[in-house]
Amino acid sequence: MGKKVTVVGAGFYGSTTAQRLAEYNIFDTVVLTDIVEGKPEGLALDLNQSRSIEGFETKVVGQTTGPNGEGYEAISGSDIVVITAGLPRKPGMSRMDLIEVNAKIVRSVAENVAKHAPEAVIIVVSNPLDEMTALAQIASQFPKNRVLGQAGMLDTARFTHFVAEELKVPVASVKTLTLGSHGDTMVPVPSHCTVDGKPLSELLPADKIEELVVRTRNGGAEVVALLKTGSAYYAPSAAAARMAKAVAEDSGAVMPVCAWVDGEYGIEGVYLGVEAEIGAAGVRKVVETKLTDAEVADLKAASEAVRAKQADVASL
Ligand code: LAC
Repeated sequence: MGKKVTVVGAGFYGSTTAQRLAEYNIFDTVVLTDIVEGKPEGLALDLNQSRSIEGFETKVVGQTTGPNGEGYEAISGSDIVVITAGLPRKPGMSRMDLIEVNAKIVRSVAENVAKHAPEAVIIVVSNPLDEMTALAQIASQFPKNRVLGQAGMLDTARFTHFVAEELKVPVASVKTLTLGSHGDTMVPVPSHCTVDGKPLSELLPADKIEELVVRTRNGGAEVVALLKTGSAYYAPSAAAARMAKAVAEDSGAVMPVCAWVDGEYGIEGVYLGVEAEIGAAGVRKVVETKLTDAEVADLKAASEAVRAKQADVASL
């Protein structure tokens, strides 16, 4: 049997993720759910009508879900569930301002996923990302390798874009890396950034690199401020869909993701942005990369910041 993937939440992030997953043409079924009556069904019908034009056979199924888990049968047997449910930021808000309201939503979704898709790999994208990923693991009781969050792929892509623009080179020649949290303690790692294999530090002065690092750290807020309602979704959905693809294809691709870290970099027991090998089981292993002492110190500081918040979400 072919693969089944569910996207919970049919806002812009969820619906564009569903579109990308369907257009990969590697899944039998993409299920899109939402609590807004008729919205996922309408979007699914629309996506299905694009199949002959875009040339994919994947069927998209829309399903409205109710407050007591009504409708969740539709996700049963999913190999992967992408949780996008929750509110996005408004201009001026930090991701952390969403913690209470989104915790309730993510907890209830994760419980329903555990009930109806007990074998799934969960990919969380709801904000605040590191905390919602930790909460989804607690609420689902899934093994920690089967719950991961999307952030590093997105933050890295933003950093790459800014570097490519600055140097006027194709994005394909740029490699960047960001670790840490998807927030104030994001840790862009300039020592791992290269352009056509050359260290970024040889191509740009330190203050310019720092400017791009700051812009990357504020990358989400910059889009929110321009949109005024809602947050970014093209780059975020591209990142989430690539992670789901790596799981579906058991590819072993190494990607920066929010994963359970226990011992790597001397950091104990916390969900944090690191590089990890992704396969059918979710995170196969965290890949520890060589960092400068300053970068390790920043990563440890990030881990302490998110650890405190992740302890709080258990009670939300
Ligand atoms: C962003 C949100 C989705 O970074 O976290 O755009």
